[in-house]
Amino acid sequence: DFTNRKNRFLSMQDISADYVIEMKNKVSNDPYYPSYHIAPKHGLLNDPNGLVYHEGRHHIFYQWFPLGPVHGLKHWYHVSTEDFITFKDHGLALAPSEKFDSHGCYSGCAYVKDSEVHVLYTGNHLTEDGQVEQSQIHALMNQEMEISDKALVLPEPPDHFKENFRDPFIFVHEEEYYMLVGGEQTNGCGALAVYKGESIEDLHYQGALQTGFGQLGFMWECPNYFEDHGHGVLIFSPQGEMPKTKYDYNNVFSSVYAVGNPMDKKTMFFDAVEYQEIDKGFDFYAPQIYKDHNDRRILIGWLGNSKSAYPTDKNMWAHMLTLPREIHVKNQRMIQTPLEELQELRSFQETIRPVHEIQNGSFELEIQIEKDFEISFMNSEGDAVVFSSNGEEYCLNRSQMTQLYAEAYGTVRYARRQMNSSHWIRIFTDQSSLEIFCDNGETVFTSRFFIENLNTIRSTGVTGWLYGLKAIH
Ligand code: FRU
Repeated sequence: DFTNRKNRFLSMQDISADYVIEMKNKVSNDPYYPSYHIAPKHGLLNDPNGLVYHEGRHHIFYQWFPLGPVHGLKHWYHVSTEDFITFKDHGLALAPSEKFDSHGCYSGCAYVKDSEVHVLYTGNHLTEDGQVEQSQIHALMNQEMEISDKALVLPEPPDHFKENFRDPFIFVHEEEYYMLVGGEQTNGCGALAVYKGESIEDLHYQGALQTGFGQLGFMWECPNYFEDHGHGVLIFSPQGEMPKTKYDYNNVFSSVYAVGNPMDKKTMFFDAVEYQEIDKGFDFYAPQIYKDHNDRRILIGWLGNSKSAYPTDKNMWAHMLTLPREIHVKNQRMIQTPLEELQELRSFQETIRPVHEIQNGSFELEIQIEKDFEISFMNSEGDAVVFSSNGEEYCLNRSQMTQLYAEAYGTVRYARRQMNSSHWIRIFTDQSSLEIFCDNGETVFTSRFFIENLNTIRSTGVTGWLYGLKAIH
């Protein structure tokens, strides 16, 4: 019973083997469990963490509460892959063990230095009287891919930040280390604290990152920053009041990006006024971007959000990670393309028919759309999730699903269409997730959906192919 807060801080040692078996059974019998997305074998997954490419492998960690579909005692779980087709399961990577992370190993990043993978994360500690204390922790991954040598690098926030201070992100510029940490300022504005130094042990506070955004929420989480072809690109997840419109910021919390001049490393000014919502769907948060050996920037996000109860919670698992996407910046916009490797997941290929029966809920559509089109993923009862356009805007409609959830945030999402003419879009469906890449990757909808016994795709204004996709689990 997780309404009792105490139970959220239990760990694997506190529960019986039977409890774990029961969770695993429920998960394996859940028809909504994805087949080619990274998902927890039980319990709750949230943010991707520590994404890094090292010695031939992409390392992917994620926030994990093992015991149920709630936000409890957070661990890091670890998987890795060479090709995004075959994955190695490394199991638990980080577990609370010290006073500084006694109530959770929160989000963070990884980087390679002297051919070793270094990890930085937030230690979450609750005092006897319930005060939050968050500090930034460094650790090292060894050849066996175990993480150890936890050490405190930043014990507390700067004076003008409150106690929620987390999600360290590192980048190196001209041999200096820069660290961004997300937080809440005492004046009620979300911000990023910037640190700089010759090494991780030698970081000095430089002030809050200055931007031209104005107030944007009360708390900023999960920063990322990179420079690309003379631009600086900043990504973070602000919580709180956002400029909500029909097209923007309809989820409980959003993730945004901004493209500007590279951050001024002396004044800590990031010269950008415009920011954009990264994703137009219902379930996307806290993405991370890393660079691989081919200089590709790869984004993986949390395919979920923090305030909703999901229909699958009863089966003791929650959420998955998004597919990996290659990122480009074009005309100040972020372009997301499904990673090339994913084509290797394809099994059979079929020409899309207006009424197309499907045997299985895990597939990809590669389709040419017209000005007007409509595509419904449905069952025999007519329950459906519908993606459509009138030429001016896209619309993702979840109001006719078998199981509705998070209705308080609405059941429809819209995005202005960037390409009005006919073009190709790609849609990935994995039992209960949808990732729709339109406008050549400029507009992306990431969502969960719940249709019992999904068996038909009905479409108008659409031609192209359906590919079966192989499972990775
Ligand atoms: C974002 C977040 C992070 C935090 C982590 C805890 O979803 O709230 O800010 O580090 O989740 O699981």
